[in-house]
Amino acid sequence: MSRRIGIAVLGLGWMGQAHSRSALRIPSLFPQRSFDPVLVVCADTEADRRERAVADFGFERSVADWQEAVTAPDVDAVWVTAPNMLHVPMIEAACAAGKAVFSEKPIGGKPQQTVAAYRAAVAAGVHTGVGYNYLWAPLVLHARELIASGELGEITHYRGHFLSMYGSDELGLLTWRFLMDQAGYGVTSDILSHSVSMAQFLVGPIAEVVGMRNTTIPRRPLPTGAASHYGRGRPEDPTGEVENEDFASMLCRFSNGATGTFETSRTMVGPESRNAFEVYGTKGALAWNLERINELQYYRLTTDPSSGYTTVFGGDRFPFHGAFVPGQANAIGFEDLVAIEDFCFLESLATGGSFSPGFSEAVDVVSVQQAVIDSWESRTWEPVVDLAAEVPGDR
Ligand SMILES: NC(=O)c1ccc[n+]([C@@H]2O[C@H](COP(=O)([O-])OP(=O)(O)OC[C@H]3O[C@@H](n4cnc5c(N)ncnc54)[C@H](O)[C@@H]3O)[C@@H](O)[C@H]2O)c1
Repeated sequence: MSRRIGIAVLGLGWMGQAHSRSALRIPSLFPQRSFDPVLVVCADTEADRRERAVADFGFERSVADWQEAVTAPDVDAVWVTAPNMLHVPMIEAACAAGKAVFSEKPIGGKPQQTVAAYRAAVAAGVHTGVGYNYLWAPLVLHARELIASGELGEITHYRGHFLSMYGSDELGLLTWRFLMDQAGYGVTSDILSHSVSMAQFLVGPIAEVVGMRNTTIPRRPLPTGAASHYGRGRPEDPTGEVENEDFASMLCRFSNGATGTFETSRTMVGPESRNAFEVYGTKGALAWNLERINELQYYRLTTDPSSGYTTVFGGDRFPFHGAFVPGQANAIGFEDLVAIEDFCFLESLATGGSFSPGFSEAVDVVSVQQAVIDSWESRTWEPVVDLAAEVPGDR
């Protein structure tokens, strides 16, 4: 018999809506599941979002105060999908109430906040997950298999970048992502975190880094209400200061000796959502880019004079793809990755299995972020120190 899992969603913006749709779609996408997700309560400070939660998503109820949702007895699992700086109090309350917690990345806006959330979860012994959704792309899972099985030989270099245009218009609104007290850090929290999690997933731990940062658009129009970061103001609108970084790059050395380069920006003009990696080994190479989510570029070293990169299309021969569409080269998209991660998280909760990436892996990511931040100050290479290891025995 399948287990009912009551869900609370804290913040019904972009990702709150995506995860809520997962709960609605999982029964038809994954009939083999061991659980039945129930959208119990949505918390949002905006009245129109609370109305949509019930009317459009079918939540049993919605509330303005997230504390009420977190402690509700009919809730088993809490999705934290509010702006970054709200993550930790929400997670600590959910842990204290003994609920499983799935938090959107990066978990807080500063590295030590991620560590605090991790410690709260360890102390409470609750099941955790973090929304590094791109790791669940079927072709990324395939790439990981190819690397792990030695198909590329020894990995010598990794190139990761996440170049998004969401902040490239200087009339783009000053939403929470640009403010220290709501987002914490800028692109290092928002999108370098995705690139680092991908690199750790594919190639392994990062040992040392040196980085640089820049803020290219210093002021933006002020929004009214819960505006999207894709929203646009007018030239005559009052403006406010951008308080965190638009651009961050780093050089790194992996523990296995491979070298790496990373670049992330929210203001470059041209690449619209280029969350991409290139992995180079002694026998071959791979390249993937979110803008072409259903294509993996694969190079194999041969003596054949017509060798070169081949395009491997996504299809139901790769993990999870067939849940959405059968056959080869029939495309899947962004929210399908969210459905996969939500299914795997809930299945592991229902069956008592393990789930990764959880809060422990989120600490691995911010340990790299902290070293990058330290290098901005020291202007030199910094070792990556496991931030969770600062308290013995907690990991
Ligand atoms: N994994 C991904 O690909 C991905 C993509 C986008 C965002 N994110 C992450 O998801 C989180 C949310 O980002 P978003 O783009 O969905 O933001 P958003 O601005 O679209 O939505 C945030 C929602 O939280 C609500 N909110 C604000 N304060 C609240 C409070 N006190 N209580 C309850 N609700 C409150 C807002 O009204 C809004 O509905 C962030 O941590 C972000 O880093 C992840």
